[in-house]
Amino acid sequence: MYIHAIMALWGQPVLASNSRAEGSFQSCLDELSLSEFYEKFNASLLRFSFQEIICYGLGNFQSCLNSRYQLALLILMKNKLDIKCYCYDPVFTQEEICFLEDLEICIIRRNEEGKRRVTSSTLFYMPHCPHTLSNNILWANWEKTQIQNIVILANSFQMIFTNSTKKVVDNDCNYMTRALQFLSEIEVDNCFRFCDIFNDMSFHTFRKNIPEDNSVWENCPEPKYKEETVEIIQNIESLAI
Ligand SMILES: C[S@@+](CC[C@H](N)C(=O)[O-])C[C@H]1O[C@@H](n2cnc3c(N)ncnc32)[C@H](O)[C@@H]1O
Repeated sequence: MYIHAIMALWGQPVLASNSRAEGSFQSCLDELSLSEFYEKFNASLLRFSFQEIICYGLGNFQSCLNSRYQLALLILMKNKLDIKCYCYDPVFTQEEICFLEDLEICIIRRNEEGKRRVTSSTLFYMPHCPHTLSNNILWANWEKTQIQNIVILANSFQMIFTNSTKKVVDNDCNYMTRALQFLSEIEVDNCFRFCDIFNDMSFHTFRKNIPEDNSVWENCPEPKYKEETVEIIQNIESLAI
């Protein structure tokens, strides 16, 4: 199915490309699946149990090799866990959407800005995405039991806190800061041969020493970001409010 989709949509023979820079999706998938990186990644992944994967911010994988490898990882996870997988990036082209559908990935049709309340154990996969997406996911699931349903595979929160100014943390990371007390990070070993594709990524879980104190869970206004600093592409409907 992958081969058929690539040939139809990208109009190139799948196995013909020898150049890494132009590597087809199939070659990315093959290489990643056999890599030491994936072996180690898998060992971390299998510590969890999920019922669905939500992937935001893959980027244009038709033109960008990094995104193509990140999509390959998504497919490997989907196949390994044998669960439903949903994808959204506002920059996807129609061709990319068709390609994902061919891979049996469901496309999310509206820009939810990461504000998705989940109903079952869910992995959010967001390679190199703006931290405000993580902050929005936490807000949407900000309840004592609900928050334990989510695992965020994204840029390390600890690193974001270390590398960002106080102003950015105060403005953009309110729920990430509030979650620190019950956050556990499991770092992804970045041993893939391209070092800028899966770098700085961690699994983030929110299950350790969950506070019983209701005050932690109350007073949770919807995040609003300053226009000049906001990094996510916002939903036009929500901007109009
Ligand atoms: C820094 S790029 C990362 C792209 C790719 N994953 C990579 O590592 O090269 C951030 C991505 O987040 C996407 N993004 C921005 N706002 C988004 C939103 N509201 N929902 C989902 N994805 C979003 C952008 O379109 C972009 O593709």
